[in-house]
Amino acid sequence: MSRVVLILNGPNLNLLGQREPDIYGRTSLDDIKGAATARAKSHGLDADFRQSNDEGELVSWIQGARTTSTNPGAAGIIINAAAYTHTSVAILDALLACGVPVIEVHLSNIFKREEFRHHSFVSRAATGVICGFGGQGYELAVDAMAQLISKAKTA
Ligand code: DQA
Repeated sequence: MSRVVLILNGPNLNLLGQREPDIYGRTSLDDIKGAATARAKSHGLDADFRQSNDEGELVSWIQGARTTSTNPGAAGIIINAAAYTHTSVAILDALLACGVPVIEVHLSNIFKREEFRHHSFVSRAATGVICGFGGQGYELAVDAMAQLISKAKTA
């Protein structure tokens, strides 16, 4: 079974640290990647951390997590789909088809913000949602994913 956790980031998250720091903080995506990768390693997992501004590319990466006879796939997906969270049926459909546990992450508490951020398509495919803890949310998600994966192994 794959030990890879795919950690996907949507549009504008490449600008973390510079973008609206009062909402998203001063930590860069690279710093978050480092912390999440180390946390995954502490659980014996490999993080495959990616960012794209392109919806289709995110869909293709989610499809790549599926295990097939030619592809080892991933053990789980952690996703901050950023603005696509609130708009993308394509990302939802890909997540519903991926066959591995999904955890949704947001840096900000989307429920404290504008009404249009309260609805998430991603949530329909997610085991759980972590939001409002800034970059630390990714480490919490890795801990939760490690538990889901070990439960799936013993089930
Ligand atoms: C976000 C919240 C989204 O509403 C927003 O579009 C983002 C980032 C977050 O991490 O808080 O780009 O996903």
